[in-house]
Amino acid sequence: MRRVLRVVGIVLGAVVVLAAICFVIVFVTSNREVDARVAAVPPPSPLGRGSVERGKHIFTAVSSCVVCHRSDGGGGPFINAPAMAVLNAPNLTRGPGGIGATYSDADYDRAIRRGVRPDGTRLLIMPSWDYVVMSDDDAASVIAYLRSLPPVDRVNPRVKLGPVGRMLIATHKLQFDATRIADEGPPPPPPPPMDKVAYGKYITRIGGCMGCHGVHLSGGHLAGPPDVPPASNLTPAGIGNWTDVQFMITLTKGKDPNGHVLNEFMPWRTIRDMSDAELEAVYAYLKTVPPRPDGQG
Ligand code: HEC
Ligand code: HEC
Repeated sequence: MRRVLRVVGIVLGAVVVLAAICFVIVFVTSNREVDARVAAVPPPSPLGRGSVERGKHIFTAVSSCVVCHRSDGGGGPFINAPAMAVLNAPNLTRGPGGIGATYSDADYDRAIRRGVRPDGTRLLIMPSWDYVVMSDDDAASVIAYLRSLPPVDRVNPRVKLGPVGRMLIATHKLQFDATRIADEGPPPPPPPPMDKVAYGKYITRIGGCMGCHGVHLSGGHLAGPPDVPPASNLTPAGIGNWTDVQFMITLTKGKDPNGHVLNEFMPWRTIRDMSDAELEAVYAYLKTVPPRPDGQG
């Protein structure tokens, strides 16, 4: 009996030691990833002509920046899942705790379209992959709008990773957007709104739809805490039989043609403030993407 207990003790001890070693490896590796600096990435191209009004429209409606950075731009907590991460969006204004007093336009631009801070470290969770194609004029507009915001006095703690989040980073399952877009060149010129499908593709990308519904837009459990439903299939195999009107009503009222009330994680309350032309273009584009079964990213 005593021998059995001794063996069990040794096995348990070994498991604890192994677990501790794994923990240290994951901790060290994830820290190294988070602290890594990438070579100074220049802004994709010189900023274009900014319009504060256009910037406000992108910040509050098209790109839903307000969902994380709040409507005053002062940021704050937006996801509290300690096992995964405690997420705080930074204060983007020039108030105390904000980046506006020290960031140049190029610094803002590198953060937004490239996902890199001025010190070369990479932003986490901030969806720069969606914004890398943002036109020079639209990027300039967003920055002009951020600079026009009244200063907010709010110090937000940095993103704090939990054990699961660290594991995902150490194993490269959770990638930095800066790394995903490292090879992308300067953004192509923005398509004119008359070219509905191309314009819809542009709005869909900078609208962040692919960040949750997947690069191929077929949905699945791609982002967010575990209690959030999987993102829906937006390819023709999913919502393809909806009429334009049904699509518009779903996104402006938060209720789909089957009467299903959309989960609040789906940011329809900001998306609904896109212009009719923008929403129509998004649906025109969605109808052209290859159909895919649900949940295939
Ligand atoms: C899903 C939430 C989310 C959305 C949407 C989002 N951000 Fe962020 N943003 C973050 C988080 C989180 C960080 C901080 C990341 C970190 O510290 O690693 C961040 C960082 C930034 C930074 C860099 C701040 C710094 O400390 O260097 C800028 C600038 C910024 N965001 C602007 C924007 C703009 C403009 C938009 C919309 C076009 C936007 N963000 C949309 C979550 C978001
Ligand atoms: C933050 C993540 C997120 C973003 C960004 C996002 N969605 Fe969603 N979306 C979801 C989730 C999750 C659902 C499923 C909601 C539910 O089942 O209640 C959903 C549902 C939908 C639906 C309803 C489908 C149905 O069958 O009822 C439509 C339409 C939709 N999204 C379109 C879009 C478009 C267009 C964009 C970009 C402009 C977008 N979404 C951006 C997460 C997101």
